Amino acid sequence: MTLQLRVYVPPHPLIKHWLAVARDAATPSVLFRSAMVELGRWLTYEAAREWLPTQETTVQSPLDSSPATLINPEVPVAVVPILRAGLGLLEGAQTLLPLASIYHLGLVRNEETLQPSCYLNKLPEKFDPQTRVLITDPMLATGGSMMAAMAELTQRGVDPALTRIVCVVAAPPALQKLSAAYPGLIIYTATIDEIVNDQGYIVPGLGDAGDRTFGT
Ligand code: PRP
Ligand code: URA
Repeated sequence: MTLQLRVYVPPHPLIKHWLAVARDAATPSVLFRSAMVELGRWLTYEAAREWLPTQETTVQSPLDSSPATLINPEVPVAVVPILRAGLGLLEGAQTLLPLASIYHLGLVRNEETLQPSCYLNKLPEKFDPQTRVLITDPMLATGGSMMAAMAELTQRGVDPALTRIVCVVAAPPALQKLSAAYPGLIIYTATIDEIVNDQGYIVPGLGDAGDRTFGT
């Protein structure tokens, strides 16, 4: 698979651990939710590395002045959770990005056609073009939902090069579609699984992430 966009699978033991917990069909909802929160936290930590805007300054320590780096509060940071399943990852992301604005986007796939439709859109009419946007959705399967989310964002002024996707399982059909449309995009995922079956589920994947997060 040749891709223009960049996909990072951080080789971190905590990410591997919580992915294993999430994959296990015997994991109850309450623990599955914890796994999503932890994966959201650690994948956001990785994604923030060269994405969060910083500014250089000087601070006075008790002993001397020191050069210092702070998060730049002037540059807007936004998190866009794709409902429902993206809410679990949002909780972990928010612990690291407490000042980010949260813009909810509700998308659901039709079980037969696998086409997404939008039932909630809290995006602003226009984003500042400098906005750093982090999208959370655990599953990139056919890619229809994330392509719809990216279309909503870019038509409101979001720069794909300043956008990061945090997901848990990404599959080739989604990665190929996103790469062709947004070659500057960067994705952080716990794993890449090769198969999407005829029902649109990633195999082995982790099943229906929304249902498992909310116990439905
Ligand atoms: C799931 C998942 C993604 C989408 C991925 O959501 O959370 O949003 O499917 O599939 P795709 O790449 O083929 O579009 P779902 O529509 O099941 O809604 P839910 O989160 O409310 O369960
Ligand atoms: N959505 C899910 O929740 N799981 C999949 O495997 C694919 C799409």
